[in-house]
Amino acid sequence: MKYRLPGINDKDILKAYVQEHHDNGEISISASLGLSSSDYTEWVAKIKNNALFGDEQWGKSLLFLCFDRDKLIGLLSVRYELPEPLSEKYGDIGYGVRPSERNKGYAAAMLEYALSVCKEKGMEKVILGCYKENLASAATIKKNGGTLITENENYKEGKISQYYLIRL
Ligand SMILES: CC(C)(COP(=O)(O)OP(=O)(O)OC[C@H]1O[C@@H](n2cnc3c(N)ncnc32)[C@H](O)[C@@H]1OP(=O)(O)O)[C@@H](O)C(=O)NCCC(=O)NCCS
Repeated sequence: MKYRLPGINDKDILKAYVQEHHDNGEISISASLGLSSSDYTEWVAKIKNNALFGDEQWGKSLLFLCFDRDKLIGLLSVRYELPEPLSEKYGDIGYGVRPSERNKGYAAAMLEYALSVCKEKGMEKVILGCYKENLASAATIKKNGGTLITENENYKEGKISQYYLIRL
């Protein structure tokens, strides 16, 4: 797979990526940092700013477009400077795979790449969060060495969030 930050010329492939989720009945797009509700040019500028300078609250972060050959497969968010409380609440890494490409091993490969980036940035451990009912994400995390650390009831959405630790 190939990984790179989004650019201004990726507007059409990202539009198709969002549309495929909507056609599949999915409104929110994982790891997209508000792509579907943002002006595209502003969104690209925000991603670049996050990579170069970071955000006061979230630190620096990387949002990768993940390709297999020329096809956009998924989005991967690596928040490698998160302060501990945010890390424990949101997790250091987020990802999503387009509906037509799920269950082919892509998320596991993307998480493996994210972990290599975190290690390169000097992190010794990462925390990942996912809903208990999200069996695919939990399997992806466990496949990459994640061990369950805590469980919290998420009353806002009425779901149980689980948090996993991966030592690098
Ligand atoms: C979660 C998600 C990223 C998984 O992507 P994927 O590319 O289909 O995952 P993979 O093909 O790499 O599969 C990884 C593991 O999950 C398992 N898996 C995949 N889909 C599954 C499902 N629906 N139920 C249970 N296990 C599943 C696979 O079998 C594999 O485990 P194994 O190798 O032990 O068999 C994808 O379903 C997705 O984008 N969902 C919507 C967004 C989302 O939930 N993001 C994560 C938020 S925490």
